[in-house]
Amino acid sequence: MFEQINDFDSDFEMDSRLVGPALTEEDAENENSLRPKTLDEYIGQKQAKENLSIYMQAAKGRGESLDHLLLYGPPGLGKTTLAQIVAHEMGVNIRITSGPAIEKPGDLAALLTNLAPGDILFIDEIHRMSRSVEEVLYPALEDFALDIIIGKGPSARSFRINLPRFTLVGATTRAGQLTSPLRDRFGVLLKLELYEVEDIEKIVRRSAAILGVDCDEAGAHEIAKRSRGTPRVANRLLKRVRDFAQVLGDGRITAQTAADALARMDIDPLGLDNIDRRLMTAIIRNYGGGPVGLETLAAMLGEEAVTLEDVCEPYLMQIGFLTRTPRGRCVTRAAYEHLGMPVPQDNARQEDCQQSLF
Ligand code: ADE
Repeated sequence: MFEQINDFDSDFEMDSRLVGPALTEEDAENENSLRPKTLDEYIGQKQAKENLSIYMQAAKGRGESLDHLLLYGPPGLGKTTLAQIVAHEMGVNIRITSGPAIEKPGDLAALLTNLAPGDILFIDEIHRMSRSVEEVLYPALEDFALDIIIGKGPSARSFRINLPRFTLVGATTRAGQLTSPLRDRFGVLLKLELYEVEDIEKIVRRSAAILGVDCDEAGAHEIAKRSRGTPRVANRLLKRVRDFAQVLGDGRITAQTAADALARMDIDPLGLDNIDRRLMTAIIRNYGGGPVGLETLAAMLGEEAVTLEDVCEPYLMQIGFLTRTPRGRCVTRAAYEHLGMPVPQDNARQEDCQQSLF
């Protein structure tokens, strides 16, 4: 019953950051072999998992398909994995595509008319779907129908094609960019959070066992601490640490081999890389610790504002190094201390950041 049709190739991004969450080709191979297949195997995201389990049991109990589901949260946390688990648990097929891959309304119509009853249509990066495609989706989601318009102007005629009852699973890193008519058509909204270190540690140990890598608990902990709460990063670091352990050691991953390997990759003990350090240093050196606007920071660092916002900031905020205030971004006392920079005593610019600093 489980059939995956992956018809988007815009998925792979160049990600020069070892700790960046963008999906690389190697990650995709990794993820296919390491992906948990059932909800029981899926580690972390306790609340989302528990609620999802209830919704699935209830729908199955009524003999219905699951309501349309929106998964949102930072990249690399397992939104696609969760969609595949839902398909597996509900015993239905899943078709996987992405917002940018659906170029024309006709592309979406072709996808929808090929679904079987109960099937899941997974649209990744759903916030990047065009307006004209989105409009085809509305009646499909609400009435399980497609409105086809033939001709133009006064002689245009419209007719309806009925669709099977299906479940749309949408995934996005930017729920705020979804139009409200689209957002309102999802019956279930699940937010995925960055993972706790203990959960990432379990994921590293599970992945190491699947890959046949000898990784002890302390080694897994060392990798987990530096994975920014992101399973995709953790699995990538595990593979790179394995290379160092194999070539420079006896192949075993211990705390020492992991720490040495990660230091060689310029990933610090908290998983921060060069971009994170440049970001915080720029706020401190040029703006006295903040506040400073996102666009200004992005221009100064030569990075995309969305990269800073979706990738760097969630983790820096989770570990308490950065805050967002109405007037801009501020670093905290912990960030100064981590960077080994003197914490300012009294600084007029810091008034807006008082709460974050002290
Ligand atoms: N691999 C990637 N994400 C995972 C998760 N949440 N649980 C188990 N293995 C994973």
